[in-house]
Amino acid sequence: MVVIKNVAVVGASGVIGAPVLKAIIDSGKFNIAVLSRVGSKATFPSSVKDIPVDYTSVQSLTTALKGQDAVISTVGTEGLLGQSVLFDAAVAAGVKRFLPSEFGSDFSNPKTASLPIFGYKVATRKHIEEKVKAGADITYTYVVNAPFLDWGIEVGFLLDYKEGKPRIYDGGDVPFSATTLASVGLATVGVLTNYDETINRQVMVHDIVVTQNQLLAIAKKVAPEKKWVPVPTKTSDMLEAANAALAKGDLSLMFDFIINVENQMLGVPGKTEADIEAIYKKVLT
Ligand SMILES: NC(=O)c1ccc[n+]([C@@H]2O[C@H](COP(=O)([O-])OP(=O)(O)OC[C@H]3O[C@@H](n4cnc5c(N)ncnc54)[C@H](OP(=O)(O)O)[C@@H]3O)[C@@H](O)[C@H]2O)c1
Repeated sequence: MVVIKNVAVVGASGVIGAPVLKAIIDSGKFNIAVLSRVGSKATFPSSVKDIPVDYTSVQSLTTALKGQDAVISTVGTEGLLGQSVLFDAAVAAGVKRFLPSEFGSDFSNPKTASLPIFGYKVATRKHIEEKVKAGADITYTYVVNAPFLDWGIEVGFLLDYKEGKPRIYDGGDVPFSATTLASVGLATVGVLTNYDETINRQVMVHDIVVTQNQLLAIAKKVAPEKKWVPVPTKTSDMLEAANAALAKGDLSLMFDFIINVENQMLGVPGKTEADIEAIYKKVLT
């Protein structure tokens, strides 16, 4: 039986990297290293070994990953392209489990996988799966969690509260899963501690299934004085506009692709409307 003890988190200062690192530290089960870009301003707790790396060099990454049992990549958009190099280094270093930076949509749905915004992630999956099929001595897991619940509320991604003019998609009653950053962190610990069950596959987690109209009702309850002017929006129109913009090389509507797919039902309930209310209290009061 493989036991994961030494874990390296890549990009651990980011939106999802920090809560993943926290969950792994808090579990008390692992020796932890973080890989960060040479020159990164990120700081980490003293219990964590901080290794600066050059992400373009398989050699630099291989040296950094020697002795690690698992690598969790949480690099953001700019780093996604370099993950094939990171994976190849993990193989060369003898790492047993690789979690690429996924933390979003379910690409087993071909409609989702074909969306332009996910090109780098799909390419990374392809690279990993081809290498494993060809005999690379490593395993992988994709963590799929749909939108981040607390982050999505706080930045207005799930419902624009800043302008008070949220786009309400397809009537607002379409259910979608969402997961808090902390729960995604717990899910990564779950992958590392359930090695056999999570070999070479996607795991799906979520905290709650909600609708935009539910979010709006909770936000109104928390801040009754705030003026809301919902903007009814058809996702089919958004998809058409995003495709047209992309055809002209305009990437400004890339996020509009996601709205069409982040609605899959996931398997692990975790949060309630009261938790959502608490998140809105933080941003609205
Ligand atoms: N489901 C959702 O709602 C949702 C929302 C947002 C993001 N995500 C996903 O979560 C993952 C991480 O995104 P994030 O927003 O957490 O990322 P982020 O905060 O933008 O960046 C994460 C870390 O990546 C490192 N980094 C930045 N540029 C890099 C580069 N060129 N090469 C290598 N590393 C680089 C940095 O760490 P150092 O400074 O330490 O090097 C940075 O702190 C992505 O896969 C993203 O698609 C999902």
